[in-house]
Parts: sequence; structure tokens; C-alpha cells
Amino acid sequence: MNYRIALIRGDGIGPEVVGEAVKVLERVGKTFGHTYEFVDVLLGGCATDAVGKSYPDGTAEKCRACDAVLLGAVGGPRWGADKPAEQRPETALLAIRKDLGLYANLRPATLRPAMIDACPLKTETAQRGIDLMMVRELTGGIYFGRREKYETDDRGVECADRMAYSEHEIERIGRRAFELSRLRRRKVTSVDKANVLETSRLWRSVMHRLAQEYPDVAYEDFLVDNCAMQLVRDPGQFDVLVTENMFGDILSDEASMVTGSIGLLPSASIGDRAPGLYEPIHGSAPDIAGQDKANPIATILSAAMMFRYSFQRAAEADAIEAAVDAVLAEGWRTADIAEPGVTPVGTRKMGELICQKL
Ligand code: NAI
Ligand code: MG
Repeated sequence: MNYRIALIRGDGIGPEVVGEAVKVLERVGKTFGHTYEFVDVLLGGCATDAVGKSYPDGTAEKCRACDAVLLGAVGGPRWGADKPAEQRPETALLAIRKDLGLYANLRPATLRPAMIDACPLKTETAQRGIDLMMVRELTGGIYFGRREKYETDDRGVECADRMAYSEHEIERIGRRAFELSRLRRRKVTSVDKANVLETSRLWRSVMHRLAQEYPDVAYEDFLVDNCAMQLVRDPGQFDVLVTENMFGDILSDEASMVTGSIGLLPSASIGDRAPGLYEPIHGSAPDIAGQDKANPIATILSAAMMFRYSFQRAAEADAIEAAVDAVLAEGWRTADIAEPGVTPVGTRKMGELICQKL
């Protein structure tokens, strides 16, 4: 196949980690007979520097003309909160996700077998293994609801943030979760607050209807507060978790920390028609940018997710993940994951080692 991939290298360590993921893609292409057309797309602080806007006109169109988008990271102290919104990198990230209609955010939290010691949980818990997929609704709920701020007569200023979900929004994210579980261990845990919130009661009723359509998938409901506890008590019990935007924001960060390192975790944001967007969960790490210190594995594993979810090519995804695990099993570490006494390798060397395994 020939794949057209938009590369949003971004700021800070973004260009460094994307560079290594591109090397891995090329290597996989040689083995599996794929070619690529890479389309560089400017977005983030680098775009503000170049054209005065973090989200230049035509960005979404350029991405839509591709099969998938690979993003490094955007942001940095030079383009901070004191700058107008159109110059801030975060504005661009929200805009691209919204313009591409990417309503499903997939955040795997996987404890790689060679990294069991990095897990902050009890050894027995780590040894049981952690391999879950958080499916977060990304374009609805309280983050997109109406905001209000007004003076009251007797209680000072009052603010409100509206949380709304439609059946349509819940059903499409729910379907994603059930379909995804069929590529995994066929278990879906839906997370809500149905004992309190009306949106959650609708969420739960739609999920129950879907569960009947997927009798081969085990289904359960968890309340969000219980889920937060279970994620640190026994994360090995989960396969696919599906939840609304704000709960997912918080729980996915919690889940990522139980695996020990942000330098290892990828993510995907997908919609129905538009190309999926693949990116590491970490930011632009300005403190180590340009020093060949960044861990490229999160971005390389994001490229694996691209094969699995946008190109429906599981063999290529498996090969990349196996190469990463093999390099880690041999003891190679970048500085962020190196145990005391281990001499770390740089970004480029880590990329090369993974390519060699492929
Ligand atoms: P960060 O994830 O960039 O860095 C947090 C810490 O982790 C730093 O010490 C950094 O050196 C380290 N780190 C992150 N990724 C690493 C990697 N691949 N290898 C080795 N070490 C790594 O988060 P921070 O510092 O809060 O944000 C920095 C900038 O990134 C901000 O401008 C923020 O807005 C932006 N950001 C962008 C995101 C995106 O593009 N999706 C996501 C999160 C933050
Ligand atoms: Mg977050």
C-alpha cells in the first residue's frame, strides 16, 4: 500500500520524536511492502513563529487529504497564556481535533513486560499485568457545554458549566468501545455517575442497549469514583473502559501513571470519516528539547496504533510493539526510564535500535 501521512512535528521534542517514528515507518514499509507520502503540516508554536497563527488556514484540509496524521507535541513557554488565543498552541490542538470530528480518544495504559519495576503499584499487582484501553468521548460533555458567569443578589458571582450528551453521541462512542474490545479481550467497562447525573443515566441506558447487540463481549458498569479506586487497586481487571469527556480526561491520566512512564504511552483520536490523529500522551518537554534526550517510544507506539486502527493492519502494529519490547528487554533505556546505574541512550539511538529489531 501507499499511505499518505500528515506529519505535525510541532514544538520542543516534537520534531525529534516524530523523526524517529518516521524511521520506524520506513523500516516497516520495507518489510511489509508499503510506501509513504509524508506531508509536513505546520501547527503549534512553530506555526505562530512562521505565520503568526498556531492554526494556519487550510490545516484541516491538508490533514483530510491524508490517510492519517502523526503529531509530536506542541507548546512551550514562548507561546504562553499571555499571548492571544490564536497564537497559543493549545488553541490549535483543540481546533484540529474538532475540525476533524475526532470524537473517540483511545488511550492505552500498558505496562510493558520489561518495565514491571517501573510500576508504582504493589509487585503482585504489576506482575498480574496491566493492559487496558481507555476510550474517552472527546467532543461533547461539560468541556463543550455553555459557560455562564453572572452576579447574584446575595451570593456574589456564580458560574455554571453545562454538561449535555445526546443518544447519538453516546451510541457512537459506545460502538467504538465494543468494536475495539473484539480486537482485544472482549470486555467493556462503562464508567458513569448514574446515581447522580441525568447524562449518566442516559449514558448507561444506551450502553445497556448496545451490550445486547454484542453478546460476545462481557459488559459491566462502574461508578466513576469506584473506578478511580480500582485503577490503583487492581488495574489488571480492565480491558476496555468507555467514558465521557471529563471523567475520561482524569481517569486516563490516572491510568497512565500506574504504568510508570509518560515517555512510553501513545494515543489515538478517531472519528468516522476523517483521518485518525496519532500522538504520544506527553507534551513538548521544553526542558530537554534539542538535546537528543527524549524518549521516542511513545511516538513510535503511536505509529503502531496508526497501523492497527487507521490502516487495519494488525501485523505491522504487532511487529512495532514487539520490536519495542525486545529493545526494552535487552535493557536499553532513554534517560527518563533508566534505572540508577544504567547509562541511557539518546533519542536517535533508541530509534535505531527499534529499527534494527524490525
Ligand atoms: P511534558 O509532557 O511536556 O513534560 C513533563 C515532564 O516529562 C518533563 O520533565 C519532560 O522532560 C518529561 N517528558 C515528557 N515527554 C518525554 C519524553 N518523550 N521523553 C523523556 N521525558 C519526557 O508536560 P509539561 O512540561 O507540562 O508541558 C510542556 C509543554 O507541552 C506545555 O506547553 C504544554 O502545554 C505542552 N503539552 C502539549 C501536549 C500535546 O501536544 N498534546 C500535551 C501536554 C502538554
Ligand atoms: Mg488531561
